[in-house]
Amino acid sequence: MAQSGIYEQILDPANRANPYPLYAELRKTPVARQEDGTYVVSTYDEIVGLLHDPRVSSDTGYVLEPGGAVAALEEGPPGLPMPFINRDPPEHDRLRGLAVRHFGPPHTPGRIDGMRPWLTEVTTGLIDKFAGKNRADIVDEFAYPLPVTAICKLLGVPREDQPRFARWADAIVETTNPSTGTLEARIRRRAKVNAELGQYLNGLADAHARQPGDDLISGLLTDPGPHGSMSREDVLATADLLLVAGHETTVNLITNGVLTLLRHPRVLDRLNREPGLIVGLVEELLRYEPPVQMLPYRATLADIDIAGTTIPDGSVLALMLAAGSRDPGRFPDPDRFDPDRTNNQHLGYGAGIHYCFGAPLARVETQVALPELARRLVNLRLVTDPPPYRPNPVLRGPNHLLVEYDAVVPAAEPVRAASPGQSM
Ligand code: HEM
Repeated sequence: MAQSGIYEQILDPANRANPYPLYAELRKTPVARQEDGTYVVSTYDEIVGLLHDPRVSSDTGYVLEPGGAVAALEEGPPGLPMPFINRDPPEHDRLRGLAVRHFGPPHTPGRIDGMRPWLTEVTTGLIDKFAGKNRADIVDEFAYPLPVTAICKLLGVPREDQPRFARWADAIVETTNPSTGTLEARIRRRAKVNAELGQYLNGLADAHARQPGDDLISGLLTDPGPHGSMSREDVLATADLLLVAGHETTVNLITNGVLTLLRHPRVLDRLNREPGLIVGLVEELLRYEPPVQMLPYRATLADIDIAGTTIPDGSVLALMLAAGSRDPGRFPDPDRFDPDRTNNQHLGYGAGIHYCFGAPLARVETQVALPELARRLVNLRLVTDPPPYRPNPVLRGPNHLLVEYDAVVPAAEPVRAASPGQSM
C-alpha cells in the first residue's frame, strides 16, 4: 500500500531534516492502514476527534501483537507504575488533578510565571559564556542546559545530580522511537531505565520527606489532596514523567526556534524591535516546527468510524500531530512561518485530556530564551543548514546547531525579563 511506504519514509532518519512533503502526501489518505495494522492519522479534524474520543486509550498496558491486535501485557514491567500520560480515566484524571495543584492556579498560582526572573538569570549566564569566541553549538551550550536546569529546579534535584538525570532522560527518550524495536521491547527497555531512575528518585523523595522544600516532589509527597493523597510510587512515576516530558521537548523547541529565526531573518529583526512578537512567535513555532511530531501509540477500545474508514477495536493508532498542524484545511498557507497568525490552535501540545501539562513552563522558557539570544548575539548566522538531526521521528530536533556571531552584547543590568510579561 502506497501510504504504508510514506509512513516508513517518515520513520527513516534520512528524511528527518524535512518530513513536511511526506506529511503532505500522507494527508491525501487521512486514515491510512499500514501493513502491520497500525492506522496512521494525519489530518487536523480527525486527529483532534480521536484525541477527544473516550474509545481511544493511552494505556501502554496494551501492546501490539503480530497482525495488529492489541492485548494486555500479562505482567507489568518492573520499576515504577505507569505515569498518568499512559493511563486512562479515571486514574489519569485523579493523578493529573493531584499533580496540577502544584503546577499553577489555584493552588500554586505564581509557580511558573514566578520562574521568569530566575530563568532570565540562567539564560543570561549561558549567553555570557558565548563571549570571547565567535562560534557556538546552540544545542549543547544553550537549548539543552536551560530546560534541564529548569525541570531539575522544579523537582528539587540538586545541581550536581543533573548530568545523571540527563543520561537517564536521554535513554528514556530513545525508547519513544518506533524504529528502535517493537513497542513491547521498548516498554521493557524503558522499564529498566525507570528502575534505576526510580531508585534515585526514591532517595530524593526520602530527603524531601525529611525536609520538605518549595519543590514539586515535596508538594506531591505532603499534599493530602481533596480526595486522598498520591501514593509514593505514583509520586515517583510522576516525577519521572515530568523529568522526561520536560526535557528534550523544550530543548527542541528552543533549537527549532533559533533555526527558524535564522531562516527568517526579517522575523528575527522584528523580534529585536518588537518584544511583544514573541508570544505569537512561540505558538507559531509549535505549529510550524513542533518538537513532538507524532503520538505513535494510541489503542482503540471499540470500532471507530472516521473519515470513511472503520478502525477496528483493538487497533493501534499513530496520530501525526505535525501533519495536522500543517493541514491546509485548517491553517491557511500552512507552510508559511507567520508569527502574526491568528486562530492558531496548533497540535504542538496535543489535545484532549492529555493536553501538555507543562505547556506554561515550556512557553515561559522559550519566551525568555529566544529574545535574549536574538538580542545579544550580533550578526548571528548558521554554519550548516540543514543541521544534523537526532534520528528520533517522534521527538524531532537537531543534534547540534552550530552558529557564528560577531560579538556578544553585555547583559542589561539589572537582568531584565526578556518577555513582555504576558500570561499564558
Ligand atoms: C515545547 C515543549 C513541550 C512540548 C512540545 C510538549 C508536548 C506535549 C504533547 C504533544 C503532549 C501530549 C501527549 C499525549 O497526548 O500522549 C504532552 C503531554 C505532557 N507533557 Fe508536554 N510538552 C512540552 C513540555 C513539557 C514540559 C516542560 C513538561 C513538564 C514540566 C511537560 C509535561 C507533560 C506531561 C506531564 C504530559 C502528560 C499529560 C497527561 O497525560 O495528562 N511537557 N506534552
